[in-house]
Amino acid sequence: MSNYLDESKKTRDRYNRLAMLYDLDDVLWLGLKQYSRKKLIKETNLKDSGLVLDLTTGTGRNAGLLARWVTNGTVIGIDISKNVLKINKLRNNRYDNLHRVQGMVQSLPFADETFNAVFCTCGMDTIDGPDIAFSEAFRVLKKGGTVSLLHLKRNKGPLDVFNFLSRFYAWIWRADGADLLTHVQKHDVEVPVYRNLQIAEAIVARKIG
Ligand SMILES: C[S@@+](CC[C@H](N)C(=O)[O-])C[C@H]1O[C@@H](n2cnc3c(N)ncnc32)[C@H](O)[C@@H]1O
Repeated sequence: MSNYLDESKKTRDRYNRLAMLYDLDDVLWLGLKQYSRKKLIKETNLKDSGLVLDLTTGTGRNAGLLARWVTNGTVIGIDISKNVLKINKLRNNRYDNLHRVQGMVQSLPFADETFNAVFCTCGMDTIDGPDIAFSEAFRVLKKGGTVSLLHLKRNKGPLDVFNFLSRFYAWIWRADGADLLTHVQKHDVEVPVYRNLQIAEAIVARKIG
């Protein structure tokens, strides 16, 4: 954990180098990832207004979906890598309600209880120091707001085509997978949605305290 700053810099450099290739990954998953991102937004029961934060926003596939949904509100995407944010801007230029910030999820540059909802798709499993990142996510979330997560699990089960893809993905993107429900449950939350997918998990947690 004490090492998370150094590790995060390595992650940043990796994504800066490979930014142009990141979207190939979505192609490899044959649309499954984008389908799952859309489903997560629906399962969150996200309103079309308010302030929404997209953690590890990357090249902006989830951020674009959020901006299209939150027509009367604002979406902020944050990522450590400036090169993925450039692609995010190109992709989502048409959304005036989407803003991008370069920064670290482990030290969010926002005041307490700012956001109505926080999302993180395919990101928390690449974060060094996820406990700190979760504390930050719940700090900036309003009471009654939701944190919605989609990520690869650590234990991917028997080797089939999806398992193979997920191992390949983990190797390229330093996303080893994670089992995040226990991290989430360290906070004062209820969990209205938990989906245990074959190689991934989807979680929606509502902040109580
Ligand atoms: C696998 S990509 C996911 C991107 C996007 N959320 C999606 O659904 O496609 C992971 C992203 O996390 C970012 N990232 C990794 N560690 C980070 C940190 N500590 N703070 C902010 N962003 C981070 C990387 O730069 C990368 O863009």
